[in-house]
Amino acid sequence: MARISASVYTSHVPAVGAALDLGKTAEPYWQPVFAGYDFSKQWLKEQKPDVIFLVYNDHANAFSLDLIPTFAIGTAAEFAVADEGWGPRPVPKVIGHPKLAGHIAQSVIQDDFDLTIVNKMDIDHGLTVPLSLMCGQPQAWPCPVIPFAVNVVQYPAPSGRRCYMLGKAIRKAILSYDEPLNVQIWGTGGMSHQLQGPRAGLINKEFDTNFLDRLIADPEGLSKMPHIDYVREAGSEGIELVMWLIARGAMNDVNGGGNKPKVLHRFYHVPASNTAVGHLILENN
Ligand code: DHB
Ligand code: FE
Repeated sequence: MARISASVYTSHVPAVGAALDLGKTAEPYWQPVFAGYDFSKQWLKEQKPDVIFLVYNDHANAFSLDLIPTFAIGTAAEFAVADEGWGPRPVPKVIGHPKLAGHIAQSVIQDDFDLTIVNKMDIDHGLTVPLSLMCGQPQAWPCPVIPFAVNVVQYPAPSGRRCYMLGKAIRKAILSYDEPLNVQIWGTGGMSHQLQGPRAGLINKEFDTNFLDRLIADPEGLSKMPHIDYVREAGSEGIELVMWLIARGAMNDVNGGGNKPKVLHRFYHVPASNTAVGHLILENN
């Protein structure tokens, strides 16, 4: 059967993608950001996952205000890189895993979560920047990726609680897949940032640090945090952090599976564009 070996959490700052694509990673402003992923790149190479289930949000590139799915699973064989206004990023297209994605859709929908099934979708910086941070600049991404898009752009966004429970349903689906696949689940977006209005530029290190602590040690309690606390403390775009709870909800320890996960890597850095960069790797124990 398939198993979930680890979860990865990372911000998706678009300027990080631009810095990489334009060869600026060694510049003093960017060097400390990329250095925070040196361990992760080596680790991912050694882990050789068969599939990455990548929870992310689209930023009005695949979905406009015409159509706003709360949860959308990418079931296609491949996904093109979106043009976000400056041409598509020069990164590989994403190869999907239609068979596992279809199985997860079947299981999770029958488990009472309403997923939108997406057979054609371009993927934006929400998905490509986490891959770039974790993989560098390869000719092809190291394994198939199942894109799982969450609406955190247009209200109402799903609650942290709903995301956490969904993570448990996704776990159940993956563990019932009849092939011995090593699957990782990634939760992306965040950390604190606000891009609009009088509080644009808001960063809250204390909130972010506490969020990382609780995501590791008390995800159940953290999942009950209401939206208003995210918006007030982490800024209007800080709500992206609910996606991290999907990945955390899929880990062994919160599903009757024993020990707390091993914290393999933890990183936090400000500034990167308008966003605090946070990153964690948790391994099932
Ligand atoms: C920025 C951050 C985001 O999460 C995003 O989606 C777009 C821009 C920023 O830091 O500017
Ligand atoms: Fe974003």
